[in-house]
Amino acid sequence: MKKLLVTGASGLLGMNLALGLSKKYQIFGVANHLTLQGIPFEMVQRDFFRKDVAAELIDTVQPDAVIHCAAMANVDTCEKNPEAAMELNGEFPGRLAGETAKRHIPMIHISTDAVFDGKERKENGYTENDLPHPINVYARSKLLGEQKVFEANPDAVVARVNFYGWSVSGNRSLSEFFYVNLKSGQRVFGFTDVFFCPLYVWDLAEILEKLLLKNAKGLYHVFSPEFLSKYEFGVNIAGKFGFDPNLIQPVSWQAGGLDAPRSPYLIMNTDKLREFLGESLPDQETCLNHFYEAEKSGLPELIRSFRTDNS
Ligand SMILES: NC(=O)c1ccc[n+]([C@@H]2O[C@H](COP(=O)([O-])OP(=O)(O)OC[C@H]3O[C@@H](n4cnc5c(N)ncnc54)[C@H](OP(=O)(O)O)[C@@H]3O)[C@@H](O)[C@H]2O)c1
Repeated sequence: MKKLLVTGASGLLGMNLALGLSKKYQIFGVANHLTLQGIPFEMVQRDFFRKDVAAELIDTVQPDAVIHCAAMANVDTCEKNPEAAMELNGEFPGRLAGETAKRHIPMIHISTDAVFDGKERKENGYTENDLPHPINVYARSKLLGEQKVFEANPDAVVARVNFYGWSVSGNRSLSEFFYVNLKSGQRVFGFTDVFFCPLYVWDLAEILEKLLLKNAKGLYHVFSPEFLSKYEFGVNIAGKFGFDPNLIQPVSWQAGGLDAPRSPYLIMNTDKLREFLGESLPDQETCLNHFYEAEKSGLPELIRSFRTDNS
């Protein structure tokens, strides 16, 4: 495997994945609106709403593998634009998967924990065999994407993920929300009734690479084996960086003024992934340490330096 096609490479996951893997592979990133400067990999612009773009892109790049990160990933934007969300998150991944299947190119499609309603607190977490039940437009569109990918390419990997890290805009991730506000002494809400199992995005990128190298196929839950509430996540960030944790007001997500309903208990079972990889997965402390070390090494400034006037 030499040449990787990474869609969504201007986004939080795609950028960090492409940066991390660019040391080992020739990366072709795909962005849509954002034009970036000084990035250490090749970047092309494509709009995936164009019907013929999947085949054209694969033929142009001729990758050895594809990691499809692009999406309409903002839950509240999807709620306001359901048709566009279903097209980009639901239909397009199927077209891309069809093109990879025709050419026998391995593909990882990125999905989400939000395909579950999270109403039940399952201490052992949702497994890959549990039936999804999406409760908002974003989640419905992502579940359609999973189905379309497997219909078109049964050998693809669908990786359900949740992650945090440093982004081009500086405000894409929950970790940046807490970091930026707490650093400047701003009070914020932290949801005590929404639980998740996020990975630091570079830890996630390493696992995705291993899935490719080990020729994985099928559905995988790619998460930290530890869950925590979004409030606790914020408190951990405060503790690690020496910010005041009392700036975080513990509240219910229902006080947060969000457009789309949220799944409260996204506790995910990662046994299948751990057994497949034959190794333990990063816990919350490990991930937070990596996020912290990245900040100390200047990664946020590096990533933000890629911005141009239109990003
Ligand atoms: N962030 C999370 O916590 C989270 C949690 C669970 C799952 N996920 C999933 O992880 C994946 C990556 O999410 P992310 O947070 O990295 O997303 P993001 O930061 O919002 O980035 C989205 C990417 O998709 C690209 N894109 C959007 N519309 C496009 C179009 N019409 N044509 C081509 N590219 C388009 C964007 O390009 P431009 O910006 O250049 O327009 C950008 O590179 C998504 O599949 C998402 O559903 C994310």
